[in-house]
Amino acid sequence: MMVQDRTVRALVLRENNGKIVSAIETFAESRLPEGDVTVRILYSTLNYKDGMILKGHGNIVRSYPHVPGIDFAGIVEHSSSSLYNPGESVILTGWRVGEWLWGGYATKARVRAEWLIPMPAGIDARRAMSLGTAGLTAMLAVMAMEAQGLSPESGEVLVTGAAGGVGSIAVAVLARLGYRVVASTGRKSVYEYLRSIGANRLIEREVLFENSSHPLQSERWAGAVDNVGGATLAVIATQMRYGASIAACGNTGGNAVPLSVLPFLLRGVKLLGIASALSPIIRRKRAWQRLAQLLSSETLDTIARVEPLSHLPELADVILQGKIQGRTVIDVNT
Ligand SMILES: NC(=O)c1ccc[n+]([C@@H]2O[C@H](COP(=O)([O-])OP(=O)(O)OC[C@H]3O[C@@H](n4cnc5c(N)ncnc54)[C@H](OP(=O)(O)O)[C@@H]3O)[C@@H](O)[C@H]2O)c1
Repeated sequence: MMVQDRTVRALVLRENNGKIVSAIETFAESRLPEGDVTVRILYSTLNYKDGMILKGHGNIVRSYPHVPGIDFAGIVEHSSSSLYNPGESVILTGWRVGEWLWGGYATKARVRAEWLIPMPAGIDARRAMSLGTAGLTAMLAVMAMEAQGLSPESGEVLVTGAAGGVGSIAVAVLARLGYRVVASTGRKSVYEYLRSIGANRLIEREVLFENSSHPLQSERWAGAVDNVGGATLAVIATQMRYGASIAACGNTGGNAVPLSVLPFLLRGVKLLGIASALSPIIRRKRAWQRLAQLLSSETLDTIARVEPLSHLPELADVILQGKIQGRTVIDVNT
């Protein structure tokens, strides 16, 4: 009989004289938070929000010591819920796990059964984490625009912050669905990468701002997935076609949006907020099924690279500087 390991190895954050410090620690499984399902984690990921948490930005964490990691995929080890049995493969993203609650940068996590998603057919834990919160967000953004009537015949769809996590998955999903995708990026070095995952056209971040003083510019975009916010969101609103939607996903360019009301009043532009962390389970399941069907293993392997737990502190700096390409999967067992 196999003896189960009752310890957890995790990246633990502590507050030291107002500074956040991290170390890999081992502790008893009994210290995990309350929940009806214990998951043996195989992979987690690095998202922009994880970068902020790892560096103590944004007052996201409520108390220390804290185990970060807003996503994980693994295998159910114990369950007192009728929803899951030991041995089942599951995914968790959001629900404040890794923010208010201990998260995925650990070999085990304990959570509530209703937060989990069964692993969709066709993907495994590593590929699920190549998608992670970023993938779910990108898919929810596309689904929200589809619900407003977007189709491949509508015209070009813009993705801003295209070489990041949400941006890359949005580019790949839209391309796979037959859309003409225009990828906006601040980095010339990622052009080849963005073409390889499906971008039809590339546009420099700054070019979006050319002749941008007018509140109604010529109509260009049938839809937009915006990961940048700030002045970028304001300027793309002035470039949307009549009745087109913007899915507002991110704020890497800032929270303050200097927006004119005219695109909404004169062109019926729609601003759709995407909040993946608390999105209802039924919509999540649909989004995960579509992601698993749409994106091949080859595409996911082009978008994601795998890193060990110990690299997270340096990787957090890189993601906050806007320099990560695609997705970073974290192997919590190395
Ligand atoms: N709403 C939700 O549910 C949800 C879920 C996940 C993430 N998010 C948010 O979505 C955003 C993207 O997350 P992510 O995990 O994909 O991060 P990421 O991998 O770091 O991607 C962000 C991208 O934004 C661009 N960027 C970075 N700094 C910028 C700046 N100062 N000005 C303009 N563009 C900048 C870069 O793209 P280029 O180099 O290509 O220009 C960067 O790759 C974040 O704000 C995150 O908090 C929201």
